[in-house]
Amino acid sequence: MEFNIALVPGDGIGPEIVGSAVKVMETVADKFGHKFNFTTYLAGGCAIDKYGEPLPQVTVDGCLASDSVLLGAVGGPKWDHLSGNMRPEKALLGLRKVLGLYTNLRPAALQPALAEACVLRPDISEKGFDLMIVRELTGGIYFGERGRNKAGDAAFDTEAYSVLEIERVARAAFEIARKRKKHLTSVDKANVLETSRLWRETVHRIGQTEYPDVTLDDMYVDNAAMQIIRAPSFFDVIVTSNMFGDILSDEASQVTGSIGLLASASLGETTRGMYEPIHGSAPDIAGKDLANPIATILSAAMMLRYSFDLPEEADCIERAVSDVLSAGWRTADIKSPDDENYLSGSQMTEKILEYLGR
Ligand code: IPM
Ligand code: MG
Repeated sequence: MEFNIALVPGDGIGPEIVGSAVKVMETVADKFGHKFNFTTYLAGGCAIDKYGEPLPQVTVDGCLASDSVLLGAVGGPKWDHLSGNMRPEKALLGLRKVLGLYTNLRPAALQPALAEACVLRPDISEKGFDLMIVRELTGGIYFGERGRNKAGDAAFDTEAYSVLEIERVARAAFEIARKRKKHLTSVDKANVLETSRLWRETVHRIGQTEYPDVTLDDMYVDNAAMQIIRAPSFFDVIVTSNMFGDILSDEASQVTGSIGLLASASLGETTRGMYEPIHGSAPDIAGKDLANPIATILSAAMMLRYSFDLPEEADCIERAVSDVLSAGWRTADIKSPDDENYLSGSQMTEKILEYLGR
């Protein structure tokens, strides 16, 4: 099969890790007889430098015309002084919105081989965990009305959700739960926020009418933040709003051992998705060949699984990564303190390619 993939490497370590994922995808394409055509577009700080704006139209058009998008990361100190619509992050938010990607999947599982890198107490980590955060991605306070008063001494951002917005992400989450352990936890702040009360009502209605086979429970976001550390094995699938999902997914990633391992998929009504590691552009290590490429490589695997319906190929990448980790290979972010033989980003990529060929 043939697919057109838009690459948006972005800033900082983005180009290095996207380059690694491309090598992996090319190897898989050869192995299984597919053809992936890659076209690179600028977004974020590098686009501000070249075009004077974070998300140029040529990037939007290229992504819309593609079968899927692989994104590295955007942003860095060079562009931190810019305000509002001119910030690199605007590129990310803009792409999510124009591509209609309202469902963001952020899996966080404890790799058995990395149990020692897990920050949780051993009696908690030995139970293992495998949770999938489903984050609403194109609504809520990220996209609500915002502003300042005339004097500039007060500001506001608005959390707003419609029933339609809640229903569609709830359905996506129930569908995923159905393919997993059939347990969905809806996270909100319904004791305070009206949007959360609408959220809760709507998720329950969808559950009762369309997914009675999935166990649904609710949790306040402050409690969820605590339970992810205290009893992560309780969770199967979490569905939550844009802002709560942003925060809980960073927390969930850290309890797995490294943010450098976690992939994400952003999906909408079509098969075209956007895939990206959940970590940022890490400007402090950019260009030093230190970045762990695994999160981006696993994001590419998610693209094969969710957008291209190539589960065998996706399994093959995921297996190669977990075999490399089981064999003891590490990058700087996941090595133990006394390990001097850890791999650079490009060496880790080569290692994964080697295991893919086995
Ligand atoms: C993420 C990031 C983004 C977000 C930022 C960079 C705008 O933190 O993808 O989680 O908040 O969505
Ligand atoms: Mg975030």
